[in-house]
Amino acid sequence: MHEMLAIVLAAGKGTRMKSSLPKVLHPVGGLAMVAHVLRAARAAGASSTALVIGPGMEQVARVAQLDQGDLDVHVQEEQLGTAHAVLAARQRLMRHRGDVLVLYGDTPLITGATLKRLREALDDGASVAVLGFRPADPTGYGRLVTGDDGSLLAIREEKDASDAERRIGLCNSGVIAFRLPDVAGLLGRIGNANAKSEFYLTDAVEVARQDGLRAAAVACDEREVMGVNSRDQLAVAEGLWQEARRREFMLAGVTMTAPDTVWLSFDTRIGVDVTIEPNVFFGPGVTVEDRVTIKANCHFQGIDGKSRDGLVIREGAEVGPFARLRPGADIGREAHIGNFVEVKAARLGSGAKANHLAYVGDGEVGAGANIGAGTIFCNYDGFAKHKTTLGDGAFIGSNSSLVAPVTIGAGAYVASGSVITRDVTPGALGIARAEQSERVGWAEKFRTLMLRRKAASGKG
Ligand code: UD1
Ligand code: CA
Repeated sequence: MHEMLAIVLAAGKGTRMKSSLPKVLHPVGGLAMVAHVLRAARAAGASSTALVIGPGMEQVARVAQLDQGDLDVHVQEEQLGTAHAVLAARQRLMRHRGDVLVLYGDTPLITGATLKRLREALDDGASVAVLGFRPADPTGYGRLVTGDDGSLLAIREEKDASDAERRIGLCNSGVIAFRLPDVAGLLGRIGNANAKSEFYLTDAVEVARQDGLRAAAVACDEREVMGVNSRDQLAVAEGLWQEARRREFMLAGVTMTAPDTVWLSFDTRIGVDVTIEPNVFFGPGVTVEDRVTIKANCHFQGIDGKSRDGLVIREGAEVGPFARLRPGADIGREAHIGNFVEVKAARLGSGAKANHLAYVGDGEVGAGANIGAGTIFCNYDGFAKHKTTLGDGAFIGSNSSLVAPVTIGAGAYVASGSVITRDVTPGALGIARAEQSERVGWAEKFRTLMLRRKAASGKG
C-alpha cells in the first residue's frame, strides 16, 4: 500500500470572478470549491494534503483547515507556473514517501472514484498518470500526445502546439499523479523555455520519459474536470453538482416529484421513503429522517452566520407547504409543521402540531401539543432571547402571544387571542384578553343616528 500526498494548487487570484472573495472560496452546494477538491482527494485515499496559496490568501488556508483539520499550507510568492507552484511545497514533498497527486482548487466536481482510477494507472506500472478528457471544444487546453501503444508521450500547451497537435481531442485536465522516488527532483529539472515563460507541470511527462519512465493517460467525463473562472461557470458547476446529488438521493430511496427544483447542500442527509414536493431548498446542516413528507415551497437552513446547531426532521413528520425551519429546529416523530410556520431553536415532541401561521422560536414543545393558527412565541425583548416551554398535550388557542420566558403546563389550554405573560398551571385554562360584553339593540340605534346625520348635512 502506498501513502498518498495530495497537493492542491490555489494560488490564482481568480480576477474574472470580480469578487473580494478568493476564487476557490466561492461555494458549490454550500461548500467552498477548494474544500470539495480536498474532500475528493481524501476519498481517493490521500493520507495527507497540502495547499498552495498566493500571498495574502490566508483566508483560503483558514477555510480549508476548518474543513480538513490537519493540512499544510505553502505560499507561492510569485506565480511562475504550475510546476513552480507544486515546488512551493518542496519541503513537504521531500519528507514524503509514496504517491503524489496534484489537483487544482477550482475544479469542484472531481470525484474520489475518478482519482482512484488515476491511481490504478500507477498500480499498472506508470510513473506519471494524467487525467484527460475530451471537451466539445478543446481550445485553450493542453493536449495529451499519446503513442501507438496508448502510452502518454507529452503534454503540449496550446500556445506551444503544432497544427497537428492542436487537432488532438484528448485534453489535459491538470490532475496528475506521480509514483517515483523523487518528485521534487524531477520537477526541479523543468525549464521555462515556452510561449508563456512559465514552469509547466505538464513538462513532467517528457522529463520522466527521458529517465526511461512510463507515463499514462486516463480519461474521464468532461463535466468532472470543469474549471470555474467566472460566475457564469460557477452557476454551471452548481447545476451539475445539484443534478448529481439529486440523482444519488433518488437512487437511495428518496422521491422527488420535480427534482430540478430541489436544492441541496454538501452535507444534506435524507433518509429512505422521504417524499419531497417541488421547490424545496436545503441550506447546510439539515437532516431528514425516514418516511418524512416535505410539501412544496419550503426553506430549511440548519447552519447560518449565528448558529451551527443544525436542524432535524424526525421520522414520519410532515412539513410544509411554505414552512421555514432554521438552526436548532428539531421536529419530532410524526409532528406536523404547516403553511407559513417558522421554527428556530425549538424542539417539538412527537406528534406536536403547528399547522398554520406561527412563529416558534426558542421553545420546548411537549409531545402532542397543539399550537393554533397565528401563535407567536415572543422570544426577544430587544436585548436577549427567552424560552417558551409547552408541556405535553398543551393546547394554544389561535392568535395567542406567549411572552417568554413562560411555561404552559402539560394539558393546559390557552384561550384564543391571549397575551400570556405568566406561567399557566398544568391542566388549567389561561385566558388573558378583555372580557366580552354586549349591548342589546345597539346596531339598529347606531344606523338610525348615522342616517339622520347624513340627511342633515345635505350631501345626498
Ligand atoms: C493548465 C494546464 C493545461 C490544462 C489546463 C486545464 C499547465 C502548464 N497547463 O493550463 O495543460 O489543459 O490547466 O484547465 O499546467 N497556479 C498556481 N501557480 C502558478 C500557476 C498556476 O497556483 O504559478 C494554479 C492556478 O491557480 C490554477 C492552476 O494552477 O488553479 C492552473 O493554472 P492556469 O494558469 O490556469 O493553467 P492553464 O493555462 O489553464
Ligand atoms: Ca486555467
